[in-house]
Amino acid sequence: MKIVWFVAFCTGLVFGCGETSGVDSGIAGNGGSGGAQSTPIEVTEASFDCILEGTKVRKFYVQNLVGNLEGSLAVANGAVDPPYPPGTLLQLVPQEAMVKREAGFSPETRDWEFFFLRISSGGTTIVERGRDEAENAFGGNCFACHSLATDNDFICETDNGCDPLMIDDAFIEMLQVGDVRCD
Ligand code: HEC
Repeated sequence: MKIVWFVAFCTGLVFGCGETSGVDSGIAGNGGSGGAQSTPIEVTEASFDCILEGTKVRKFYVQNLVGNLEGSLAVANGAVDPPYPPGTLLQLVPQEAMVKREAGFSPETRDWEFFFLRISSGGTTIVERGRDEAENAFGGNCFACHSLATDNDFICETDNGCDPLMIDDAFIEMLQVGDVRCD
């Protein structure tokens, strides 16, 4: 897997050093956080790559930026109840992504950060990112729509209460297999 991930240790530059959520992040395989404080998960353009490198569950692709793919897949497959573990990266189409950040990142969005991406054969550009401000190509606010899936950790799929997308399954699949970042 070519996923590059960075963990920003408590430098005080990016994420407030004094901020303590008091919740263990439960991150597996991140080299050890060394304490109860959640380890910040830094997400950069290099965190994103060919969508097909993820594991497909139903219609969407699952990855985990801190090495806990097993934990993410357990929730996606229904073996473990939501919420998804920190580091989870979910994508339905290459241009949009949700990343479960460290505990305490954003209680309102249950620690999800939303991304609208531009992709090219050269890589990924983050066009928009954020908790409740990012929008998709149709001007739809990611969080406003996903927040309707209250019982499912804001994951829409087809039956969780979100308004439907403006694209059908065939188009979704076309976007997935057409990801120009894939070799
Ligand atoms: C109009 C509502 C709406 C908006 C706006 C929206 N989504 Fe979604 N999203 C959905 C629906 C509905 C699905 C599930 C579609 C399906 O499985 O057929 C979905 C699926 C997803 C998935 C796969 C996991 C899941 O929830 O099923 C991700 C990841 C995702 N969207 C991210 C985003 C991001 C990032 C944005 C903003 C850039 C965004 N979405 C904007 C409705 C929306």
